[in-house]
Amino acid sequence: MREFIYYSKSAVTAGNMIKDNLMRAGRMDIVCNVIISVFFVSNAMRDDVKLHLIFDGPPNAPRHLILESNKDMPISKKNVAGLIKKLLYKAKDEEGLREIVPGCFIEKKSFEKVVKELDKEGKDVLLLSGRGVDIREKDLHDAVFIIGDHEGFPKDKAKFLKRIDSVSVGPKTLFASQVITILHNEIDRQHL
Ligand SMILES: C[S@@+](CC[C@H](N)C(=O)[O-])C[C@H]1O[C@@H](n2cnc3c(N)ncnc32)[C@H](O)[C@@H]1O
Repeated sequence: MREFIYYSKSAVTAGNMIKDNLMRAGRMDIVCNVIISVFFVSNAMRDDVKLHLIFDGPPNAPRHLILESNKDMPISKKNVAGLIKKLLYKAKDEEGLREIVPGCFIEKKSFEKVVKELDKEGKDVLLLSGRGVDIREKDLHDAVFIIGDHEGFPKDKAKFLKRIDSVSVGPKTLFASQVITILHNEIDRQHL
């Protein structure tokens, strides 16, 4: 199972804050592009992927959304924002992880807690950064990739990750969604 974490300090955490202008919802437009890059290839969907979205924007932060490949997941490239909106509307602070529609879950959980749990599971958590070591020098078995939003990955969160390796996909600073396409391609080429 390929696993990605997209962290956004600004992505909104209430369904009613997602309106027509996705840029004004804490750059929910970027979140939609990330989801499309994680799950879709031409004329098909990938069947072995898990995406963690961690939203730290107003008013109900933090929210941890999990989207996991599932043939019954009600996802269409044309209405990714609608799916996110639905999950945020159904979120509750007091309950744990809830499956809202097939393959789509939500809970109140911080970035730090999500990463600690993955680390405990034995996953190799890697931070994507232009200043990291070349991805081609890394063994990608059991890797989980953390990708930042348009403002980059916050320094205070990076301090928490100091024991975690940083990896680069190349010399240019790319969009989060482009980084995901490259990561998929690197793993596809290794037949992992
Ligand atoms: C649009 S970029 C962030 C740009 C932001 N201004 C900065 O300089 O960090 C979004 C995320 O993609 C990842 N990223 C972008 N280019 C990368 C590269 N060449 N190698 C690895 N990760 C990259 C990083 O995780 C980054 O936080």
